[in-house]
Amino acid sequence: MIAIRCCALVALFASLSNCEENLTFASYYGHHMVLQKSPDRAVVWGYGAEGEQVKVSLSGPGPQTTPPVTVTQGIWKVTLDPVEAGGPYSVMATMNNLTVTLTDVLFGDVWLCGGQSNMCFETYKVFNGTDELNLTAQYPNVRIFMAGRHENEQEMNDLAEVEQEWSLPTRASVKGFSALCWIFGRLMYDNRKHPIGLVQSCWGGTLVEAWSSPRALRQCGLDHDISPRPGSQNRNSVLWNAMIHPFLQMTLKGAIWYQGESNAVINMNKYNCSFPAMIDDWRSSFHEASGGQTALDFPFGFVQLATVLPGNIITGFADIRWHQTADTGFAPNPRMNSTFMAVAMDLPDDLSPYHNIHPRDKHTVAYRLSLGARAVAYGEKDVVFLGPYPAGITAGNGSLEITYDQVVAVATSAADFEQLLILDPPQVCCATATADCRTRPLCVPAPWVPAPILAQTSATSLRVSTAACPSALGLAAVRYAWRNRPCDYKACPVYSASGSLPAPPFTIDL
Ligand SMILES: *[C@@H]1O[C@H](CO)[C@@H](O)[C@H](O)[C@H]1NC(C)=O
Ligand SMILES: *[C@@H]1O[C@H](CO)[C@@H](O)[C@H](O)[C@H]1NC(C)=O
Ligand SMILES: *[C@@H]1O[C@H](CO)[C@@H](O)[C@H](O)[C@H]1NC(C)=O
Ligand SMILES: *[C@@H]1O[C@H](CO)[C@@H](O)[C@H](O)[C@H]1NC(C)=O
Ligand SMILES: *[C@@H]1O[C@H](CO)[C@@H](O)[C@H](O)[C@H]1NC(C)=O
Ligand SMILES: *[C@@H]1O[C@H](CO)[C@@H](O)[C@H](O)[C@H]1NC(C)=O
Ligand SMILES: *[C@@H]1O[C@H](CO)[C@@H](O)[C@H](O)[C@H]1NC(C)=O
Repeated sequence: MIAIRCCALVALFASLSNCEENLTFASYYGHHMVLQKSPDRAVVWGYGAEGEQVKVSLSGPGPQTTPPVTVTQGIWKVTLDPVEAGGPYSVMATMNNLTVTLTDVLFGDVWLCGGQSNMCFETYKVFNGTDELNLTAQYPNVRIFMAGRHENEQEMNDLAEVEQEWSLPTRASVKGFSALCWIFGRLMYDNRKHPIGLVQSCWGGTLVEAWSSPRALRQCGLDHDISPRPGSQNRNSVLWNAMIHPFLQMTLKGAIWYQGESNAVINMNKYNCSFPAMIDDWRSSFHEASGGQTALDFPFGFVQLATVLPGNIITGFADIRWHQTADTGFAPNPRMNSTFMAVAMDLPDDLSPYHNIHPRDKHTVAYRLSLGARAVAYGEKDVVFLGPYPAGITAGNGSLEITYDQVVAVATSAADFEQLLILDPPQVCCATATADCRTRPLCVPAPWVPAPILAQTSATSLRVSTAACPSALGLAAVRYAWRNRPCDYKACPVYSASGSLPAPPFTIDL
């Protein structure tokens, strides 16, 4: 560690010091790690003496030695030939007669896990956490790594601190690791049967602005934003700089993300821009810095916000959920290529001892995310990973017929549809257009009224009552599950036929 810091300083100041003869790997290369498997090529880099030659060799099932590269500004970097999934390997970097070796290295898929507290939420805290920790011994090929929490004004080439070195999963090593990241990883292992590397880089209570580069923020007019922010770690780009930028050269398979709660109170109406812009920018940055090894459209999975109880200052979960999909309602969508989403609004945990904003059921979230990964990241054709979404809505006599894009399971007793009335004269709701009504929740009378489900009318459709509306002509929009906590645990009105995937929330103009 000391050697790394010493040479990291050399790299930072691009000058030589008394550690010039040391040869080390960058901070996040370690024993027991997972490097990205074929067809991609893993990138390996580190520090060495200026001008010297470094080469990297693998010994294991598929040995190879890279051509030598010259240490420049204290840094060497090689791109391995593609390596099939498996191992174990020893990875040796050699400079003159110095050799440093990483042992028990596997090749597999590397996933980055980012976000705020619900991503950081520790495995021991989940429901049946003891059972989960007892499972770790069965997954020696899923390896974990955790970045330390640091923020910086400048883009960093390496981590300031490693919170948890690459580790085999044990009760002790996984206990404090992200539950969502871990469970997602072991589900992907069950599915792929090859090594999975999990890189946790998250920080509770953080904004998307902190995780976004100035480039990405500029696209949404947020680069000069000075809204009040809780904590120095929430300043623009500081976590991008210290906790994402250092990883750019490492070849990744994809990323999963659980964040947005903090943006329900800060720059909420920009999240439909800032979130997709961050994804785009991460993708182009990882692609470029890895020399094209990390895919330009690498799979990006995310969790649509779960729930929070009234009484919390946070009230904008419905809007953030919508903005998480770039205002389309689902993912992937035309704005968010190669993404996948786990709906979590039906997993409230009102009694969570860690605050109701932190539901303990991370198993269901990870499972739903794993379905998306199988379909989007691994191209499995028959995996249903999207809940039902409206394909068409027609107005009837005192009702609306909503037809979904798939067979639905409907609980007719549960009502969470609402309709937006454009009242006549329009000024009664302080608005002349649908959009204006939406942004003025304090309109009197409230423009949104309940639209209870009357019946499931076919395998794919249901009918909701518009009786609260004076005439069908006055109907402007219909929305579904549009509140912080729309339904009880796994008890929303509409699910996929199998009952496992909830229909995501929507707001649709008629
Ligand atoms: C290598 O780094 C260590 C730790 O910083 C230092 O003690 C040692 O002198 C360095 N070796 C050389 C040859 O510079
Ligand atoms: C390593 O190389 C240096 C210079 O090339 C030489 O002086 C030294 O004796 C070598 N050390 C060993 C252990 O071979
Ligand atoms: C916890 O484990 C019990 C017994 O296996 C099971 O019935 C229950 O559904 C689990 N709870 C959750 C939230 O997974
Ligand atoms: C977990 O493993 C420990 C140690 O092997 C054992 O004592 C305990 O009963 C197990 N707990 C569960 C819930 O399986
Ligand atoms: C984002 O949402 C806000 C508020 O609803 C809206 O005014 C804006 O047009 C949307 N922007 C994009 C890019 O969709
Ligand atoms: C999405 O990615 C796929 C695969 O790379 C590509 O063929 C397609 O053009 C992309 N679509 C958009 C809208 O960027
Ligand atoms: C509409 O429904 C009401 C009550 O169900 C019924 O009395 C009326 O005849 C219907 N009107 C039309 C045009 O079908």
